[in-house]
Amino acid sequence: MHWAKFKRPMRYALTGSEMPHFRMDSLPIRIADLELDGASHPRYQPLREAIARRYEVSIDQVVAADGTSMANFVAMATLISPGDEVLVEQPTYEPLLGAASFLGANIKRFGRKAAEGFRLDPAIVHNAMSDRTRLIILTNLHNPSSALAKEPELRAIGQLASSIGARVLIDEVYLDSAASLQKSAVHLGPEFVCTNSLTKVYGLSGLRCGWILATPELAERMWRLNDLFGVNQAHPAERLACIAFENIDRVIGGGPAMLAQNREQWNAFAEARGDLQCPPAEHGITAFPRWLGGETQRLDDHLRERYDTSVVAGRWFEMPDHFRLGFGMPTADFEEALARLAASLDDLQ
Ligand SMILES: Cc1ncc(COP(=O)(O)O)c(C=O)c1O
Repeated sequence: MHWAKFKRPMRYALTGSEMPHFRMDSLPIRIADLELDGASHPRYQPLREAIARRYEVSIDQVVAADGTSMANFVAMATLISPGDEVLVEQPTYEPLLGAASFLGANIKRFGRKAAEGFRLDPAIVHNAMSDRTRLIILTNLHNPSSALAKEPELRAIGQLASSIGARVLIDEVYLDSAASLQKSAVHLGPEFVCTNSLTKVYGLSGLRCGWILATPELAERMWRLNDLFGVNQAHPAERLACIAFENIDRVIGGGPAMLAQNREQWNAFAEARGDLQCPPAEHGITAFPRWLGGETQRLDDHLRERYDTSVVAGRWFEMPDHFRLGFGMPTADFEEALARLAASLDDLQ
């Protein structure tokens, strides 16, 4: 999280991995809609209903959490005991490793190969598994590459997990930015536990509206843990999240078209540069190219110093010669950011 929290913000922040902030004051909200009415609202039903409706699950499969971050932590805290063997994809979103490590997991890794577009390969997972594996953790879309794992691969991983009584935790915070609609993996079987939020794809990170989808039995155990961590979510945020769900088409707005356009710009840019290797971006809000110029920390430093622009150096994803960039900005800004990236790459040649 270092680059996100402690570095000075840049005008052209290709470091970002979410859609531009959605303005709640563009929705018909009255202050009375946020009335606290003096009560606390355990397991606030209207929000769980809204999530259940959108993701086509039953309400007893939905657990609320503060963002996908807390959803991941609560899910892992329910599924992992100290010493348990846990398999985590590589590269991955670092806090997934941090949470599993904090819970005392014995972490093993399975690779997603750059040369294969970081696709999820069940054969690699199979090789990395042992009969002690309790949990397999991955992201879909994949952070950082945005590779989409489709149903057949996910089903294969589910079968591997259930053959040894393990579960599969999938962080789906980017899934709703896939170019084609794909349902949550929770529909594929009881071994799947999925997390998500209104953060990345909806531009509403400030609401901290996250959730876990799981079997009712697991969901109940997760609610009990939630009672330890915070008892209830902040009620005005829950009310605002309900209003966001009621107006979800307006919240999404032109986001998918903007992403498609920016991905197209990026694909043309990457294709034309001899110093970058990247499969064409088809989905999502981020890409993870390889730079043939060496360690990309140098590229990020130079971009920041000279061009008021930033990317995420690949060392934060255990791949120092790659970097992550985000598509979540108006296309005119994205074009300017790419022009600055080109200038910086040229400087460093
Ligand atoms: C894979 C992944 N999960 C979770 C998060 C955090 O999501 P939230 O803001 O909903 O906690 C991020 C943010 O970068 C992420 O990339």
